[in-house]
Order: sequence, then C-alpha cells, then structure tokens
Amino acid sequence: MWRTLAFRLTAGYALAGLFLVTFAIVSLYLVLVGELEKSTDLFLADKVHVLRTMLRERPDDQDALREEIELESAARQYEHFYIRLIDDRNTPVLMTPGMADQLDLAQLAKRTQLHPGRTVRMRGRDGHDFRVTGVSAPVGASATQSDTVQIAIDVSQKQELLARYRFWFWVILLATFVIFPLVGYQIARHGIRPVEEMATTARHISSTNLRERILPEGYPFELASLAGTFNQMLDRLEESFKRISRFSADIAHDLRTPVNNIRGEAEVALVRARSADEYRDVIESCLEEAVRLSDLIGDLLFLGRAESPLTDLRRELVDVGELLGRVLEYYEASAADGEVSLTKAVAGERVVAELDRALMQRAVGNLVSNALAHTPPGGAVVLGTSVEASMIHIFVSDTGAGIPAEALPRVFDRFFRVDSSRSQGLGGTGLGLAIVQSIAVLHGGKAEISSLPGQGTRVTLHIPIDCAAATKCDADMQLASSPK
Ligand SMILES: Nc1ncnc2c1ncn2[C@@H]1O[C@H](COP(=O)(O)OP(=O)(O)O)[C@@H](O)[C@H]1O
Ligand SMILES: [Mg+2]
Repeated sequence: MWRTLAFRLTAGYALAGLFLVTFAIVSLYLVLVGELEKSTDLFLADKVHVLRTMLRERPDDQDALREEIELESAARQYEHFYIRLIDDRNTPVLMTPGMADQLDLAQLAKRTQLHPGRTVRMRGRDGHDFRVTGVSAPVGASATQSDTVQIAIDVSQKQELLARYRFWFWVILLATFVIFPLVGYQIARHGIRPVEEMATTARHISSTNLRERILPEGYPFELASLAGTFNQMLDRLEESFKRISRFSADIAHDLRTPVNNIRGEAEVALVRARSADEYRDVIESCLEEAVRLSDLIGDLLFLGRAESPLTDLRRELVDVGELLGRVLEYYEASAADGEVSLTKAVAGERVVAELDRALMQRAVGNLVSNALAHTPPGGAVVLGTSVEASMIHIFVSDTGAGIPAEALPRVFDRFFRVDSSRSQGLGGTGLGLAIVQSIAVLHGGKAEISSLPGQGTRVTLHIPIDCAAATKCDADMQLASSPK
C-alpha cells in the first residue's frame, strides 16, 4: 500500500493541495488582521486629530466638543467608541455617556500613560475588546495648559469577523483534507491504468501465447510509446520463438532421415542371410549416413558455439590469396568432374590480414561447394579478394542457377533451402550459409549475397581489418618471405 504508485501520487497531490490551501488562507488571514488593525488605528488617529484641533483652535466652544464627545458616539450602533477629556489636574472635563459602565477608567488612565501615543488593547466590562489610546492636547493657541484625550473603540465586531473567518478556514481545510486525496486518487488511478493494463498483458504472455498485444488507444503520449516499445519487443520475441521452434523441428527432421536410413538398411539386411559383398554394401551405405549425421551434428555444435559471446578467434597473419588458393586446390577435382571452371582472381597487391585461418577456409569452402553444386557444366566459379580502406572483401561468384529474389533474404537462415526437394539430392542440410554468416560475424564483419536467377550468384564476405595492423602485417610477411 505505502509502496504503490497510486498511493504515492495521491499523497503527493493531497499534501501539495493542503499546503497550498493552508498557505493561501493563512496569508489572507494575516493580511486581513493587518488591515483591520490599520483601519482601527486610522480611526483613532483621526479622532485624536479632530479633538486636538478643536482644543487648540476653539478651546471655549463647549458645544462643539460636547457634540463630538457625547453625541456622535452615542448615535453609533456598531463599533461604539468612548472619549474622555481630562484636564491637567486629572479632573474629567467631558466624557461619552456610558464610558464608566463599560471601562475601568483607572486602568484606562494607567495603560494609556504606560504607552503614550500608542494604541493598546483593553478588555471592557461586558467582555468586549477595546483598542485604547491617550494623548495630551494643548488647550488654546498659547498652550499654557494641556488636557488629555483618552479614546477607546470597541473592536469586538472585527474580532467576530476574524472568528468567522477562522471557522471557515477550518471548514475549508477539513474539506480539502477529504476532497484532495479522493480527487488525487482518481487522477492517479486514471494515470496508471495503462501501466496496469500492460502488466496484465505481460502476465498473460508465455512461450505458448506470444500473440497478446497492448492497444495503446487513448493512452497519454509517453505511455503510448512505452506500449509501442513493449509491443515491438513482443513482436521480436514471437519471431525468435517461431524461429527456434522451426529450428528444432528442422533439426529433428534432419537427424531422423539418416537414422531412419541406417535403420531401414540394417533391417532389410537382417531379413535373411547375405553374402559378404552384400554386407559390405550395407555397411558402406550405413557409414555414409553416419558421416552425414556426424557432419550435421558437427555443424550444429559449431553454430551453437559461434553464438556464445565467449567464442574467440585464433587470429593469425593470413595471406588471403594463398588461402583462396588452398580452397581452390581442394575443390579442383570436383569442379573438373562437374565440368565447371574454377579460377582465382586476386588484385595486384598481396592482401594480408589477421584472420582465423581454419574458419575462413571453412567459410570460403562452403561458398565454393554451394557454387559448384548450383552451376551446370560449362559454367564458371571465381574466387577473389580486394582491399578497401579498412575492409577486405572476399567473394565467390558463379554463373549458376541463381536464387529467386523472394528467397534471397532467407538464405542465411539455418536449415533454409531454396527448393528443399530439389537440393535434397545435393546432400546439403541448409546450414552452410548460416555457418558462413556466423564466421563473418565472428570476424566483426558480415556476409552479403546477390543473385539473378538464371545468371548466377555472388556471395561476398566483408571483413574489417585494423589498417595499422594490416600494413605492419604486410611488412612482417615481406620480412618472413624475404630471400632465404
Ligand atoms: N551459389 C548458389 N547458387 C544458387 N543457389 C544457392 C547458392 N548458394 C546457396 N544457394 C541456395 O541457398 C540454399 C542454402 O544454402 P546452404 O545454407 O549452403 O545450404 P545447403 O547448401 O546445405 O543447401 C541452398 O539450398 C541453395 O538453394
Ligand atoms: Mg551449402
């Protein structure tokens, strides 16, 4: 629960929401408090100013003073204020009616004396809060005598306003506390629904059910692209699983054929007594099948090993022209049998590179054997090589049957044969080009094929070589082959 994404998002939304709401309300409250206090202070200052002016300008106009002190306040319904005017012997001159009932005058005098000119808080007898202030006011223009003005204003109304504000603050905060997590939870659930759907799909996937896909309709962009990536991964997995199961079916099939042949021949031979020659024939034929089997198993093992990332090459300095020559020698006889000309075309300079000699010989051998197998009498097979920057290209081309364009992309696949019934007689297993490709890949390069049906085929191995090493090799080789 604590660790779910929905919970964390919800908690995040709710905390942020609560924080923002609290911050807004508290700061508004503080502003309001300040403004209210300011308006009270301004009111008091205004009154003081009026009274001092009257005392200074018209000290004898008792009516005007009385109106200001006694009548105006009494006429008020809210925010009552009280004014007391005392002379310098502390004798009250004028006082708003009811002031003595409401306020402790002795205390008022004490407090205003303690904080001259400032506004201070005081509690009235009925529990109302007052703001009070006291200032001296010179009487007459000559100012020989000075009275004191004491003013108190009832601020309980303003405090009620603030109290109501605080009440609503708590109500809103409580609502926020309930509503934000609910809304946040809805948003979070909505946001992570696609993720859950992906998880559900992923749970349904197994090696026998790779067909499920996520439909990213209505997903937000980021998740739609995640879903797309996920689907592509499933596409690739499905493709590899298909390949693997096709591959194992092919292996089983290719292993069964020779085993069945051996078994059939042995069974037939055992039906009755045979002459020594007949037994020899059967054994020879069984041996042929056994060789075929062990070749096939050898090829499979090789491909398995080549795929392992631990496989490394036994690189040595190889003169590519010489290597091609050896392959050519090996296949000369069968080329002559098939009445096919087999030649080598090596560019002027000698090409030397660090290669795994045995593997490279095997790759080129596979290519030549393919070319010979598919070239009719009178055709030609050419082996060649060329260097370019940091690449060497080794090719085998023929003037044979060629490969139809639709089969071309698959010829490097294991067990793939263009026309399996037709090439069955040629004894292949469909692993030859797969092995060629994996040898090229082991050398850090790749094999490419181009073919025109009826005109011929050309397979090229592109192998990268370290340029510096290649020249050095060249020098080494020249040293090695210098006059004996
Ligand atoms: N030089 C070529 N000319 C025509 N077809 C070829 C040539 N090389 C390969 N092929 C086709 O590609 C298929 C795969 O070749 P390969 O992997 O060597 O398997 P295999 O030789 O055992 O059949 C062959 O069955 C053949 O149909
Ligand atoms: Mg082959």
